[in-house]
Formats: sequence, structure tokens, C-alpha cells
Amino acid sequence: MTTKLLLAAALTLTIAAQPDAARRLLDAKCLGCHGAAQMSGLDLRTPDSLRKGGNRGPSVLPGNAAGSLLFQAVSHAGPLKMPPGKQPLSPAEQRILKEWIDSGAALPASAATPAPAWWAFRPPVRPRIPASPAHPIDALLPAHPPEASQLTLVRRAYFDLHGLPPTPAQVDEFLHDDSPAAWPNLIDKLLASPRYGERWGRYWLDLVRYADTAGFETDHFYINAWRYRDYVIAAFNADKPYTEFVQEQIAADEIWPMSLDLEGTSKLPAAKAENLRRRIATGLFTLGSFPIEYTYYGDQFRAEWRAEAVDVIGSAFLGLTLACARCHDHKFDPLPQRDYYRLTALFAGSTEREIPLGSLFDVQTSSRNFPLLAHAEALKQQVRRARGAERDKLLRELGEAFLRAPSRPPTANVLAPDDAVHPTHILIRGDFKNKGEPVQPGFLSALHPGAAIQEPLRRKALAQWLTHPANPLLARVMVNRIWQGHFGHGIVRTPNDFGRQGELPTHPELLDLLATEFAANRWSIKSLHRLIMTSRAYRATSQLDPTPDPDNRSLSRMSRRRLDADALRDSALAVAGLLNLKMGGVGVIPKLSSEELLAARMPNLWPAHPDPAEHHRRSIYLQMKRSLTLPMLQVFDAPDPAASCARRESSTVAPQALALLNSEFSQQVAAAFAARLEKEAPADPIPHAWRLAFGRPPSPEERATGAAYLARNSLPRLCLLILNMSEFLYVD
Ligand code: HEC
Ligand code: HEC
Repeated sequence: MTTKLLLAAALTLTIAAQPDAARRLLDAKCLGCHGAAQMSGLDLRTPDSLRKGGNRGPSVLPGNAAGSLLFQAVSHAGPLKMPPGKQPLSPAEQRILKEWIDSGAALPASAATPAPAWWAFRPPVRPRIPASPAHPIDALLPAHPPEASQLTLVRRAYFDLHGLPPTPAQVDEFLHDDSPAAWPNLIDKLLASPRYGERWGRYWLDLVRYADTAGFETDHFYINAWRYRDYVIAAFNADKPYTEFVQEQIAADEIWPMSLDLEGTSKLPAAKAENLRRRIATGLFTLGSFPIEYTYYGDQFRAEWRAEAVDVIGSAFLGLTLACARCHDHKFDPLPQRDYYRLTALFAGSTEREIPLGSLFDVQTSSRNFPLLAHAEALKQQVRRARGAERDKLLRELGEAFLRAPSRPPTANVLAPDDAVHPTHILIRGDFKNKGEPVQPGFLSALHPGAAIQEPLRRKALAQWLTHPANPLLARVMVNRIWQGHFGHGIVRTPNDFGRQGELPTHPELLDLLATEFAANRWSIKSLHRLIMTSRAYRATSQLDPTPDPDNRSLSRMSRRRLDADALRDSALAVAGLLNLKMGGVGVIPKLSSEELLAARMPNLWPAHPDPAEHHRRSIYLQMKRSLTLPMLQVFDAPDPAASCARRESSTVAPQALALLNSEFSQQVAAAFAARLEKEAPADPIPHAWRLAFGRPPSPEERATGAAYLARNSLPRLCLLILNMSEFLYVD
């Protein structure tokens, strides 16, 4: 062959290779959004769809790369920049697209479904762990910092798993246990305590924007929201597999049958009672932040209610900012607006209903006593009209009548089938009056397709799609949250956004190790705690000098953390001997100071619980009113339940010191703490005070300073000081 011929052959080869190279590049970098998802109307899978272009018209002018929207977008020559986010195409990749368009833009159809370009959409892969005796987590982390002291560890474990300090006896028990299994045994013991569900259930409630009222101007009361709160605590305590926990919240009523008959007795069969308990989980969709002004049962109500449902699914279960696709295609992630409305359609045909938590027989039995209630109601009217001496007599009668009257039979607010299944449309700009094309129920096109939806069980299909093994996000997002609960930060530091606007994982292999272990261990959250807490990484000291990496992205030590609002309040009550460990029930309304009451919009709707012992329940059992966060909790960054809170802030601001020094709460706690010391260690209160608050005896200097302080100040004053010390506020 002559040189000329060779050259010509090479040229033909190059030209023939261009479409293939372009195809591979578009597959890898664009199809995640311009394949099935058709973001902005553009589908780059076939020659025809390429020629058609997107919402802006044709994006490729064959022979003219510079004039083609597609090339302008990838070369950042105009306002549109593709792919969106922080990783533009390399110059070599841009050149491939330029030469391909300039030479005619011929394109083979996309053959296979390409692997998703974005890391979070690819399935987690268990990393290869070097065969070493190291714990699998430590095998993936280069640094091996020294271990924290046993005292630090026992406090860290109690605060992490219970949100409470260990008592002196609990500290001693651990410090005196020399067995090699002392540490794993401690973890097991803490996980078995009901305090665990209260601590970790709280994080979940933050995440799903739990509150007892609806917020906005009217802030109406959700009388049964607390049942969902108690369900969550019980689920964590029972170590319910995470997939089951998710399924129950989305569709317990559609997955676990309610039609079981009474077992020849008047009582509910155990299986039905269990399924009723599961069904309380769907209360998740009945307690959102919601203005009552919406035209009830109209288009607007449905639009807002369904959008709220989809938003919480995006943040809590998927770690995606789905809410951004309500008014337009998501600008950064492969979430077209159509997908958003396909998800809302999964909630069409569902509505909120208040159901009795017993058998029909129970309901009928209690209705037998209703004349007594009617009598009490009649007396109430009379008392309202009565004056002077007569009123007192009537009041007593009224009291007696109410004591005899039946209580309301227990109910729960849950999801149930609606009377009609209204068709779903894309809402242009999210506006319920501006209906676009109709859509069928479906899932996110960027993820696995999911099974066909068996009507009318739409939410069941959603629950199964979310918990399907092919969903790469469910496990990753949840293990990241658990890691965050132990280390202060997630491996992905934007726990509710695993998309392109979020942060990349600092340790992707570690994240995938945890995700695959989680799924392999029947989605047991408690096993995950065990795995994490038995690593050296968890047992590491938080005190390295000099601090190698202030932000600790390298995980080269433990991060020191301030107690969150709930843990701080609960710990102060515990140290003072005031904490009331009663579990469950309707949210308790604690006392507010007179200034705090002034700030409440409707102070008459703040009836403090008549029993003072109730005011000292754990914070998770206090009523959460959207229009008024308890000032003591708010100043320490309690979340705003208007939206999902993935991680509590840990600010340091002056009002915190003021609240801890001057609030009625602190004064009361300090007084009780002092009274406790006087009772338990009257001769020498200082060592006991230190052991209760810090788990350790005071150093000789601390003893001397404490004694000198006490010579001039009262014991309650010293107690107040202790509650303000950073050792009390921070966990090492
Ligand atoms: C993560 C999702 C995502 C990826 C990946 C992505 N795009 Fe886009 N693309 C979008 C979105 C969203 C828009 C609409 C943006 C807007 O209107 O502001 C868009 C719009 C476009 C448009 C304009 C379509 C029209 O007519 O409105 C072109 C052309 C385009 N993308 C090309 C590409 C190319 C080429 C790639 C791969 C190199 C790519 N995109 C990768 C999300 C993506
Ligand atoms: C309530 C409706 C609505 C929601 C929800 C919404 N947007 Fe938008 N957004 C708009 C409108 C309207 C525009 C202007 C028209 C357009 O670009 O589609 C816009 C434009 C944008 C633009 C382009 C702005 C520019 O300068 O070109 C970005 C980026 C964007 N939105 C991001 C987001 C993100 C991120 C979220 C979620 C956090 C979000 N949007 C949620 C209505 C909304």
C-alpha cells in the first residue's frame, strides 16, 4: 500500500471513530440526565432524538460546532454550562465533541444502559479490605491516633447512645471491668436500654420535620402526632430492620393487611394489633408544616399536601433535593419535573384519616358510656353561665361528672384510601392553577425502574421501590447519618444532598463498606453502631496537639462536640436528680417564665402540665409547637421543624451563656443539684459534684478552688457554675 492510501485509510478510520468516541462520551457524561430523564426535553440516546433537540430547539448544527448549543454548553461559551456542577468536561473531551459535530455529527444509537455518571447513583461496592487483623473501618483509614482514656470512652458512649451522662456507679462499673469484652459489652448494654431509642429516635424526628402542631398563623394542634413519635422510639429500640421501618412509614396499610377478623373474642388478634401499630407509621404524612388556609379537599390542598410528602421522601429517605424539581427540572441533578409529579401521583388516592386503635367492639363499648359525657358537657355550660357561690358547687359537680365520664377511645391519624383518585398533572412552575401534561404514577427515572404498580396500591409500590436492593441511596444515606451521629459530621457532609450540589464523600470506600455491611446485616441499625463503635477510629482521642486538620475531614481523630439542646437539658436534669424517665404519651407542656409566655402567640394555649414531675421528662416528650420552640432549647440550636433537619448546628453565641446562667430552668436545676449534694454527700459535696457532672473526682487544684469558692458563695451557686463549665457542655 502506498503512503497516500495509508493516510486515506487512517483518515476514514478517524472519522469513523469520531461517532463512537462521541457516543461513549455522551453515554458516560450526559445520559444520566439526557437519557430516560430527558432533562430540559433533551434526549441524547438516538440520532432522531438528538436531531430534534430539547426545549430550546436543536442543540446540534451538523458541521458547525461553534454554532451548536451543545458545544457552547460543554465549552462554557454561553450562559448554559453542561454538565452542571463542579466537574466540567476536560479539554480533550470537548475536542471530541467539537470534531464530531464539525465532521457531520453522525451518531450511533446508545447500545447499553450506561453506568450512571454520578457516584451516588452507582450501587455501593464493598471495598477490598487488606487481610489484616485490623477492624475493617480502621483498615480503610490511614491514621491511627492514640486511644482516648477509659473515662472519656465511657462518657462518649453514654452521650452518643443515650444523650445522658453515665452515673458515677456506671462509670465505676466500666472502669473496673478488666475483661477484654468490656467495651463491646458496654455498647450492647447501652443499645439494649430504652434510652437509646429516645436518643436516636430524636434524630429521625428532626429529619422528618416532626412537630405536634401545623405551624403558620393558626398553628393547629395534631392531637395524635405523638403516636408517631412513640412509634419511632419503639422502632429504634426494637432494632426494626431499616427497610421495614421505611416500608411501614410509606405504606404500612397497603403492605400489612388490616382486614383480619376478631378471633372469636372481643379482642383484637395479636397480628391485627401489630399491623395497627405499624400503620401509625404512616402518620409521618399527617404532621407536616402546613397552613390551614388551603382550600381543604381542593386542588390546592392536594397539591401542597403531596408536594410536602414528596419533599420529605427526597430529604429523609433518598438524600436528594427533590423539592427543587417542583417548579422546573432540577438544575443540577437528573431529576426532571415530570419525575417529581410521578412521585406525587403515588400519593393520589391516599388521604388522612383518624382511626380507632382498637376493635369495633371496643369503640361500641365505650360509646355505651356517652350519656355520662353528655351530662358533664351540660354541667360545663351551666358553670359558664353561673355566678358567685353557685359556681363553686357546680364546679365540684362538674369535676365529679368528668371523672365518671368515659375517655376518648384511642385513635391515630394515618393514611387511608381516598374516595377518589384524582388525576395528576405536571404543575407548571409548581402552580396548582397551571396544569401541564398529565402524568402516571412512577419513580425516579435516574434510578432503577421498579416493579409495575399494582393499582390501587401505589404507596406499596413506592415502599418497595425505595427499599429495593438496586436503590443505591437508601443504605448510603442512612449509614452516613449514623456515622454523623457518632462523629459530628457525615462522610458526606451534606447528609440530605447526595447530588451534584452536595459535598463528595471524604472517604468513599468507608461509606460503601458501611452501606454494604448494613444491607448484609439485615439492615440492623444497632449492628451498625456496634461496627462503628468497636473501631479504633471511634475510640480515638479528640485531643491531638497540634491539631492536624481543624475540620477533621481526614478523620484523624475524634471530633469534640457540644451537647445538642435536648442532650444538654436532659443531662442537666439527670445530674440534678430531677430527670423523670417516664416514656411516651401526649407531649408535655412545661412551664415557661412570664417573659417567655409573652413571646408565645396565644399564651392561653400553653397550659403547663399540672404535675411538676412531668416538666422534667426527657426533651423528646415535650410538646413541639411549630410557632414556639422552647427558648432554652432554641438558644442551643434546636431545629426549626418547618423543614427536614439533617444535622443540628452547634453555634456558640452569647445568649447561650446567659440562658445557662440566668434562666429559671438553670436556677431550678442548680438548686436541685445542690439539694441532692446536701443529701448524698453533706460532709464533702465537691467530689460528689464532680463525679456526678464529669464522671471523675476533682483534681487537688479543683478541690481547693471549689472550696475557696464555697467559702464565699452558696452551694447552688457552685452547682450553677459546674453546669456552665465546658467539660459539662462538651463531649470529648
Ligand atoms: C445532572 C444532570 C445533567 C447532566 C449530567 C447533563 N445535563 Fe444537560 N441539562 C441539564 C439541565 C437541568 C438542563 C436545563 C438547564 C436549564 O434550563 O437551565 C440541561 C440542558 C442541556 C441542554 C439544552 C437543552 C435545551 O434545549 O434546553 C443541552 C444542549 C445539554 N444540556 C447538553 C448536555 C451535555 C452535552 C451533557 C454531557 C456533557 C449534559 N448536558 C449533561 C442537566 C444535565
Ligand atoms: C416554587 C417554585 C420553585 C422551586 C421550588 C425552585 N425553583 Fe428554581 N426557579 C424557579 C423559577 C420560576 C425560576 C426561573 C425560571 C427557570 O429558570 O426555570 C427558577 C430558576 C432557577 C435557577 C436558574 C437561575 C438562573 O439564574 O438562571 C436555578 C439555578 C434554580 N432555580 C435552582 C433551584 C434549586 C436549587 C431549587 C431547590 C433548592 C429550586 N430552584 C427550587 C422556581 C422554583
